[in-house]
Amino acid sequence: MKNKLLTLLFVLLALPALADEGMWLPSLISGRIGDMRAKGFRLTAEDIYSINNDASMKNAVVLFDNGCTAELVSSEGLLLTNHHCGYDAIQSHSTVAHDYLTHGFWARSRAEELPNKGLDVKFLVRMEEVTDRVAGGETREAIIEKAEKEGVNYKACIEQMYYGNQLFLFIYEQFDDVRLVAAPPSSIGKFGGDTDNWIWPRHTGDFSVFRIYADKNNRPAAYSKDNVPYRPKRHFAISTKGVKEGDFTMIYGFPGNTQEYITSDVVEYIVNISDPQKIDIRTGRLDIIAKGQASDAALRIHYAAKHAGIANAWKKWQGEVLGLKRNHIVDKKRRYEADFQQWAETRPEYNTVLRELHEEYEQVKEPYLAREMMFETLYSLPKNYTAEEREEEVFAKRQATEEALFVYLFNEYDKRCPESFKVSEFVEGVKTYGSVENYAREMFAAVWKGEKNDRLDEYHTLKESIVRMQKYIQDRLETKHLRNMSSKRMNELYTVYIRGLREWDTERAFFPDANLTLRVAYGSVMGYEYADGEYHKPLTTLDGIIAKDNPEIYDYDIPESLREIFRTKDYGRWGAEINGHYTVPVCFLATNQTTGGNSGSPIINGDGELVGINFDRTWLSTMSDIAFDPSICRNISVDIRYVLMVIEKVGKAGYLLDEMTLR
Ligand code: ARG
Ligand code: GLU
Repeated sequence: MKNKLLTLLFVLLALPALADEGMWLPSLISGRIGDMRAKGFRLTAEDIYSINNDASMKNAVVLFDNGCTAELVSSEGLLLTNHHCGYDAIQSHSTVAHDYLTHGFWARSRAEELPNKGLDVKFLVRMEEVTDRVAGGETREAIIEKAEKEGVNYKACIEQMYYGNQLFLFIYEQFDDVRLVAAPPSSIGKFGGDTDNWIWPRHTGDFSVFRIYADKNNRPAAYSKDNVPYRPKRHFAISTKGVKEGDFTMIYGFPGNTQEYITSDVVEYIVNISDPQKIDIRTGRLDIIAKGQASDAALRIHYAAKHAGIANAWKKWQGEVLGLKRNHIVDKKRRYEADFQQWAETRPEYNTVLRELHEEYEQVKEPYLAREMMFETLYSLPKNYTAEEREEEVFAKRQATEEALFVYLFNEYDKRCPESFKVSEFVEGVKTYGSVENYAREMFAAVWKGEKNDRLDEYHTLKESIVRMQKYIQDRLETKHLRNMSSKRMNELYTVYIRGLREWDTERAFFPDANLTLRVAYGSVMGYEYADGEYHKPLTTLDGIIAKDNPEIYDYDIPESLREIFRTKDYGRWGAEINGHYTVPVCFLATNQTTGGNSGSPIINGDGELVGINFDRTWLSTMSDIAFDPSICRNISVDIRYVLMVIEKVGKAGYLLDEMTLR
């Protein structure tokens, strides 16, 4: 008896802490706070999210440009996010004469801060579950309309969690006057370029600085020169003490999209069909754009954001395919499903759901593939070149690149779109003009000229029919959510399947898939085993930048000022003893589960202070949207001390530090 008790005690003590997995809803974080505190968090659930306490951290985090995250770091509306999140804005202010992409940008006064059309940030006012209200007959539209009336420029939406097992209302306050304050040169902010993207060890100073402006009453307002810096309810204090391996970290932000619970069928589709085809299409597109960029300095700037955007997912998909294959995720999912089925066999509520999911998958995969292929090809071509574009000096230089893209993407569409979903206008066009290539060239000539005539009408009809086909597929699948493979029926089946999984697999930590709503993930600073015998340490330093520095290679050619700082060890208060020598910390790894949208998110220490800005994942983590493995998946952040050093020593913009709270 005593022995048994001892054994039990031993088992209990030896029970590992929960794995660092999951993206949790902040309003429900009290359910995790015990685990968080055991791992080194020293604050409360209320400090993270509260609708009564203005000082809760949620009031210092914003959705930036509907796809990234940013955080408040001063009482005067100063925001930090990634360089790649501010990229469009930085590019839009750049010309060959004032090339802020290449040389960086530092507003020397508030008057020099640059407004950005179409760029907004959103604060979460609150979130609340509305499952019962909707079940009780209230329409979603009515709930949203009512919520948006609560405040100035409020925006609301309802998002499903666990495939519709729960519905949540999210209410945001949106600010439309967001100005560019500072950006490092790309040789810092995009150091390593696409070569290092998704890779560790990493040395990118991926940050940029913006400021929110409001009207005199601190309310959201459209851009006006009379607007004043926004006074946030809360901003993050910054820790200057830094991080070391094992330290607690938490990330607070807007992860965009994960699919942790999809069945083996869908993973197989992604690995064998969807990703490889999309990768191939993009390889060709990137070659064409890169050729244009190499031929001319103005073209290099013009296509910079476009190239980076296309290359980012292109590279991620390659890592994803490798990771899913190497880790046998399809087989593992099949075994998991077989085990579930065994349990479900005697439960009528669940015993057919996997079979039905498989049948539905067979119905959905072809139209869904057609949609993806259209999206990657004809859909991505411009309908018109705008009057504004035509006035730009660079316009004439773009002709060869644009024409090549037309020819290439017409061909790819022809090759890859399943026949039964090809639009008839395209099939007719190929016949009329004798070949896909001729057809593409004629259509391009018409759009490029831009004069109204039959050919241009023909092209517009083609573009419209592509949009109509997308809509047709969407209607046929009866769903709005086509970012992932889905249909109305599939979603209903997943609702049941997830409910069943949660009943059956009681050990697993279920969290709702990311859907661009505010989440908390937590873990610690930690390295990982990259390959047999090859351990990757969690911290990189300025010495690593210097080791990569090479004036001959565009992606590794750092500014002279950074070389000088290294030469004179002029690190000021940002210098630290790391890996046995005096240097500046640059990037670090942690076990926080993240995905696209978490870019720019604050990385927070156990005391709620900012220690870094998230910007990427490692190569082995590129599969983590589908299969997160806590033993190898890591997020990558830029160390806040490097950010501050670059602002102070490279940008000579130390005045920005004066408005921050440094600890
Ligand atoms: N991989 C990161 C993300 O998914 C960074 C992308 C920007 N950097 C680049 N070299 N394209 O957004
Ligand atoms: N770089 C990504 C973004 O733009 C975040 C990193 C990731 O996908 O993990 O959101």
